[in-house]
Amino acid sequence: MKLIQVRTFLTICISTAFLFAAITTEATSRHPVRGINGVVASSSYIASDVGVEIMRQGGNAVDAAIATAFAMAVTWPTAGNIGGGGFLIYHGANGEATAFDFREKAPKASTKTMYLDDEGNVKANSNHDGILAVGVPGTVAGLELAHQRLGSMPWADLLQPAIDLARNGMPISWNLHDSFKRLNEWWQLYPSSAKIFLRDDGSFYQPGDTWKQADLAATLGRIQEHGKDGFYKGETANLLANFMAANDGIITLDDLAQYEAKEREPIRGNYRGYQIVSMPPPSSGGTALVQMLNILEGFNLREIGHNSALYLHLLTESMRRAYADRAKHLGDLDFNERMPIADLISKKHAAKQRSTIVMHKASESDPARFAQPYESEETTHFSVVDKSGNMVSLTYTLEHGYGSKIVVDGAGFLLNNEMGDFNAQPGVTTESGTIGTRPNQIRPEQRMLSSMTPTIVAKNNIPLFATGTPGGRTIINTTMQTILNIIDFDMNIARAISAPRIHHQWLPNRTRMESGFFSADTIALYEQRGHIIDNSDSIGSAMAVYRNPETGVLSGAADPRAADGRVAAF
Ligand code: GLY
Repeated sequence: MKLIQVRTFLTICISTAFLFAAITTEATSRHPVRGINGVVASSSYIASDVGVEIMRQGGNAVDAAIATAFAMAVTWPTAGNIGGGGFLIYHGANGEATAFDFREKAPKASTKTMYLDDEGNVKANSNHDGILAVGVPGTVAGLELAHQRLGSMPWADLLQPAIDLARNGMPISWNLHDSFKRLNEWWQLYPSSAKIFLRDDGSFYQPGDTWKQADLAATLGRIQEHGKDGFYKGETANLLANFMAANDGIITLDDLAQYEAKEREPIRGNYRGYQIVSMPPPSSGGTALVQMLNILEGFNLREIGHNSALYLHLLTESMRRAYADRAKHLGDLDFNERMPIADLISKKHAAKQRSTIVMHKASESDPARFAQPYESEETTHFSVVDKSGNMVSLTYTLEHGYGSKIVVDGAGFLLNNEMGDFNAQPGVTTESGTIGTRPNQIRPEQRMLSSMTPTIVAKNNIPLFATGTPGGRTIINTTMQTILNIIDFDMNIARAISAPRIHHQWLPNRTRMESGFFSADTIALYEQRGHIIDNSDSIGSAMAVYRNPETGVLSGAADPRAADGRVAAF
């Protein structure tokens, strides 16, 4: 949609209090989109505009992030959510950095073997499909906690754009049209979802149609009025708990009332003099990211050359080592007090691991240890910077695209299928993709391990850029390659997030490579070292913002891989 159409539509459909004249919404090429007062880069052009409009009204980066997140729950249903969970990393211009954890939790009635049949196999993919795959949602609690700690505008103002979009409607893009259509068999399975994703006569929404979500508007209205209690108690909670009870689900009113988001100490690393601030467990992201950067710090990557065969080899070997440690050690911090995080992110551990890398030969990935299946790529990330230089990096998810595909009848929002991120078969680990290690086994109220890696990189403790991406386990590697592209290869953020990338996760022992972007010569030299390549159309969908430390000019970049992604700036 052209800029002028976006503005016209928004001016008509979003709150009349909004004035959009000063906002630029642009697709990113190799040139970041610049602004002075605020920038948002997200997968939804409408939500990016909402976030920037909040900053235009005087809100800070946290206010803008909250409004963007609620807007995306309306405009980007594949991953934007109130029925899922995620992480927010904040880094203030004053040097304060913190992390908010609103990952979903296992319901109290869950058990370690709840998905297994008598032979110990997962029954009918039930950890991913169906109502038992739903974890207790965390998003609303997390956004409220971030607002209480660091927000400046009234909570109600941050919900209003999302309510307007849900109530008055928003345009169906080609991308939404395609994905609603693609998921038709799910809508046929769940009538409460068909009501939302199909027209009243059962036909598909067409590009340009106005899509209204009245039940979601009402739910967001309750959250606007009562904060977190508007979701975890009262009418919304009753709708959810009754829906669960009627459909053999196990989330209860008690699960909802007991859910709490947590503020946590971020993972901190140092890479070539830059400070890395990222997400601690229950994400594996920050830990593995810092571990890989520490290993790579010992090589002159600039001299080795961007995306040369040797460079790809070193990346692969760092990924192999960090993902093996991830599988072995990481889970929810609250249930695994002795996780060796400090050791994993230490320079000493990195030096030890670096010394095991052979320059001309791929290492083994021992299948007798623990394997890690590829995951769905459906999550979403956005980055925000405000005029003071405060930054937010937020990744949240329903797990698969549209999560469980189940909408809570009468409440209008999708439920996650995040329970699939637990290790469902205790003790069973195979090369084909099952992990059974202990730290991430199911326990009531435990948070499932995540790969989401919202990250902010600072120089002299002043935020320089924020980045992150969806992509399941590929998230950590995409974020790392973005950081290397900026720090080691002086790319601007637009080039850094669009550059071709690879992914390796220890097991399966194969490298996913974006096809069509690496030369035959490079591939041949890489394969000679013993690596096996799986071609991939696309890995991740990164969003980044940057503040020029000399001029103070802000900029943003949306991954060209994101169909509806845009930067809004003013
Ligand atoms: N559901 C994707 C992740 O948390 O890593």
